[in-house]
Amino acid sequence: MSFMQIKDLNVHYPIRGGFFNTVVDHVYAVDGVTMEFEKGKTYGLVGESGSGKSTTGKAIIGLEKITSGTITYEGKDVTNQRRNRNNSFNKDIQMIFQDSTSAMNPRKRIQEVLAEPIRNFMNLSPHEEKRRIIELLEIVGMSEEALLKYPHEFSGGQKQRLGIARAVACNPKMIIADEPVSALDLSVQAQVLNFMKDIQTEFGLSYLFISHDLGVVRHMCDHISIMYKGRFVETGTKQDIYENPQHIYTNRLLSAIPNIEPSTRKERKEVRQAVEAAYRVEAPKFFDAEGKVLGLKNLSSTHRVAMSALETEAN
Ligand SMILES: Nc1ncnc2c1ncn2[C@@H]1O[C@H](COP(=O)(O)OP(=O)(O)O)[C@@H](O)[C@H]1O
Ligand SMILES: [Mg+2]
Repeated sequence: MSFMQIKDLNVHYPIRGGFFNTVVDHVYAVDGVTMEFEKGKTYGLVGESGSGKSTTGKAIIGLEKITSGTITYEGKDVTNQRRNRNNSFNKDIQMIFQDSTSAMNPRKRIQEVLAEPIRNFMNLSPHEEKRRIIELLEIVGMSEEALLKYPHEFSGGQKQRLGIARAVACNPKMIIADEPVSALDLSVQAQVLNFMKDIQTEFGLSYLFISHDLGVVRHMCDHISIMYKGRFVETGTKQDIYENPQHIYTNRLLSAIPNIEPSTRKERKEVRQAVEAAYRVEAPKFFDAEGKVLGLKNLSSTHRVAMSALETEAN
């Protein structure tokens, strides 16, 4: 059973122009997105830069205004309550970013940075608060020495661990992780990803894992949606997407995953070129006249894919 449902989410930004500065058009950053989140599972949201991934994440947590759609959390409609302090939703859903410390006050020591969410959402004595902060540092594998340091004094991997420490401070149910390892070296990426998996198991956390990297998503996610221009091109389980991809755009992204092994690199390059060539010819069939993704159809109870123009005409 899912504990949170996003239904038909739209975030449209008005574009103003002309002499009277009126609304002349909209950016359809998120355009009819529907998702369900399950306890202890990771939902991957993948797409190229500008496809609407971050806007989706921010809209869910309330950092971005929603044009329309509903968010249901534990059976309650929370669409218009997300930034209301006295709401369990705000304690239960936390976010981490590509650069976690960019969301931290650079002039505050880690002790104060980690105290913020605790003061917002928990009612602890100063002594208990300090104990909780030290416990958080232990959870993310850091020592008490971090307490008096400033965010900029840490390495990239440590910064992400601090971001995670702050996110888990008040025992959330879910973390929205927007490109959490994209700024890190490959070896550090693996450490942070494995650490995220460890605390997921330990605390029964759910993730909305946002990434442009289908290789990373494969390692992390149970269910995956591929986003293009604000819409889903394909959505399904890890098996559905990686073993039975149906949309030409999904295939194109899959063929572009870099391969570490030199022996298969040449092969991959050939596959990639063939897929690119097919894409140029076939793509128009998979989008409408404005280049938008067409409606989704069900392939199975888990797997949905956008229709081709021929199918929508037939309907
Ligand atoms: N505040 C805004 N005003 C207008 N357009 C925006 C705003 N924020 C994002 N966009 C546009 O919305 C689209 C989706 O952006 P974003 O969600 O950041 O994509 P992603 O995270 O997938 O790279 C982009 O075309 C972006 O330019
Ligand atoms: Mg983004």
